[in-house]
Amino acid sequence: MFPPNIDKCLNVEDFRKAARKRAHRMVFDYIDGGADDEITLARNSDVFNDYELQYKVLSGHANPDTSTTILGEKIDVPFVLSPSAGNRLFHTDGERGAAKAADKVGTVYSLSTLASLSIEDVAAMTKGPKWFQLYVWKDRTLVKEMLDRAKAAGYTAMILTVDLPITGNRERDPRNGFTIPPKIGLKQIWHGLQAPYWCLDYVTKPAIKYANLSQDTSAVTLNEFVAEQLDAGFSWDDAEWLLGEWGGPAVLKGVVRADDAVQAVKSGFNAISISNHGGRQLDSSPAPLSALPAIRDAVGGTTELIVDGGIRRGTDVLKALALGANAVSFARPYLYGLAAGGEKGAIAAVEMIANSIKHDMVLLGVGSIKGIDRSFIKKRNQY
Ligand SMILES: Cc1cc2nc3c(=O)[nH]c(=O)nc-3n(C[C@H](O)[C@H](O)[C@H](O)COP(=O)(O)O)c2cc1C
Repeated sequence: MFPPNIDKCLNVEDFRKAARKRAHRMVFDYIDGGADDEITLARNSDVFNDYELQYKVLSGHANPDTSTTILGEKIDVPFVLSPSAGNRLFHTDGERGAAKAADKVGTVYSLSTLASLSIEDVAAMTKGPKWFQLYVWKDRTLVKEMLDRAKAAGYTAMILTVDLPITGNRERDPRNGFTIPPKIGLKQIWHGLQAPYWCLDYVTKPAIKYANLSQDTSAVTLNEFVAEQLDAGFSWDDAEWLLGEWGGPAVLKGVVRADDAVQAVKSGFNAISISNHGGRQLDSSPAPLSALPAIRDAVGGTTELIVDGGIRRGTDVLKALALGANAVSFARPYLYGLAAGGEKGAIAAVEMIANSIKHDMVLLGVGSIKGIDRSFIKKRNQY
């Protein structure tokens, strides 16, 4: 059995298949899966097919400019990388591989609280702009400590993720006996025989830990860990306290309602990530693209909106921008790349999306990101 050939991957689905080939089953399912019946997971992507792009002809844009700004940061592509936990579990290159992919295309990397490399190590390994994602721990001293470390290490914005007061019901994980770090039983060994390259990494490379937490965090299930540590009682007042502690640009991640978006602006957040955690939390919650138009109308033109979930192609990015997003973000596309081929795979997946945006902007007949407006999009059957 040979490792997957990254060079043959043409789209995200190819990277997904390659990841399934190389990664241990529990690891692939942890990346790939969603909550309950995975209705929201599927809908996040399917909803893009409800829209059609109204391209312009003879517009003379042979070399469109894909750069834009988000939270004052100039980025070369209209996307940032969404935060994701435990990347060294997917491939030993881990968060470094993903951060290098962001660097390569000139965009922002977001490091998860639950990363498997530390805030300081990732900062030292890559030079591009970085944001730090926070879950809210019951222990406020720990929260303050993490924010101070992120500030000291040069992370320029905080993302507060609020759609995970408890972990979603992801049924693939208990079926596979999934934990971080993994506990190895008979089932895992059986699946491991089908993933020899992943296993070789696993047994020969340093142990996988939540690198930003106490190093003696044991191999409890993610559910137990989160239930123990996260503060499900966190409120808007607490969010405002946190903004005060951080004192810099901040994104509220996990919003799908217009009233919550309006409150986020009132509370002092600079940008909103319209997201349902990639369909991993409340199943049957709205797809981010569906939620976008009402949120844009409610917050007005100046608040920056990032659409996160289901983005797989350049056309998906253009649709979100046309409906009022300032930028998009995604996790699975770079995670499939990482799981399939480490840093090289993550870079290939992210470059593929970057290239397809530029290509599709030529076809759309638009020369800049700011030039993409609602005239370029229509809902199917609404002519
Ligand atoms: C394996 C995995 C781990 C994730 N870990 C985190 C995390 O630690 N913090 C967070 O805010 N979101 C996390 N997310 C959610 C992503 O940031 C993002 O909202 C979601 O994956 C977007 O959907 P997409 O993967 O289909 O693009 C994770 C997603 C995946 C797939």
